[in-house]
Amino acid sequence: MWTYLNGDFVKKEEVKISPFDRGFLFGDGVYEVIPSYGRNFFLYDDHLERLKRSLSAINIDPLDNLDNLKTLLEELYERNEFDNQSMYIQVTRGVDVERSHKSSSKLKPTLFISSSELNINPYRLNPEKKGLIVGLDTDIRWKRCDIKAITLLPNIIPYHDNYSSDLDETLLHDNNLINEGTSSNVFFVFGDQIVTPPKNQNILQGVTRNYLLSRLSGKGFSVLEKKVSIEDLNKVDEVWMTSSTKEIQPVHNIEDLFLSKRTHQESLWHKALKVVESDLEVYS
Ligand code: PDD
Repeated sequence: MWTYLNGDFVKKEEVKISPFDRGFLFGDGVYEVIPSYGRNFFLYDDHLERLKRSLSAINIDPLDNLDNLKTLLEELYERNEFDNQSMYIQVTRGVDVERSHKSSSKLKPTLFISSSELNINPYRLNPEKKGLIVGLDTDIRWKRCDIKAITLLPNIIPYHDNYSSDLDETLLHDNNLINEGTSSNVFFVFGDQIVTPPKNQNILQGVTRNYLLSRLSGKGFSVLEKKVSIEDLNKVDEVWMTSSTKEIQPVHNIEDLFLSKRTHQESLWHKALKVVESDLEVYS
């Protein structure tokens, strides 16, 4: 497998970054994940825009080579050969001369890109496959989850707790409200009403989330951004998790709340998946 680091394509086994990189020292950086179906980077412009927003929010100057990011991704895609790939773009403030909270003058940001095989959403091949097993935990993250920061400790802790290692995802709640998963956004269905938490809650505005909001309402589904409390879970008919790598996947249970009332043929999840699938076909 190949990676890209600051101007060069380097084999995965050989790539090296200084421990004085502020990404390593302080988690001082942001990232982006773009799915590639064939040679097509799905919703590329939305991902690039979010990357620029994340960089600007932490005062890293937009990199000169962001404008030719697509060319770099294309070359990496070709080198890594898998038909479908997740492209991971990571930008840190750069390598400093010493460890200091305040960085020394202007640093040259580090740009690192890697890719891995994107396993196509297994629910497309088998819609009857058992849904995701999801936990529920307090959201202890910082207050700027709109920035796609590389500092992800609170997002990974749930997977390293011995008792929850079989979880596929964990829903994070704050003030009795559900925000999102550790690496995906969440949609709830109450009757025919599809609901996702509003962007002014502390969430990452998922590219997949935003695309689904506009795409599904354009198709006549009833979709809205609305707060969902923990108590509301007792009335929910379906829960879906969405991200660039998951696409859209159904939830089987949230802790001891089981969501098996609807078959996949009856579910809005499956109808929504068909919309996504038709877009991906047009795309690839
Ligand atoms: N995660 N919320 C969080 C906290 C996320 O980390 C992600 C994506 C999403 C969904 O965003 P999008 O639809 O733009 O992928 C929501 C990626 C896939 C990751 O960290 O690997």
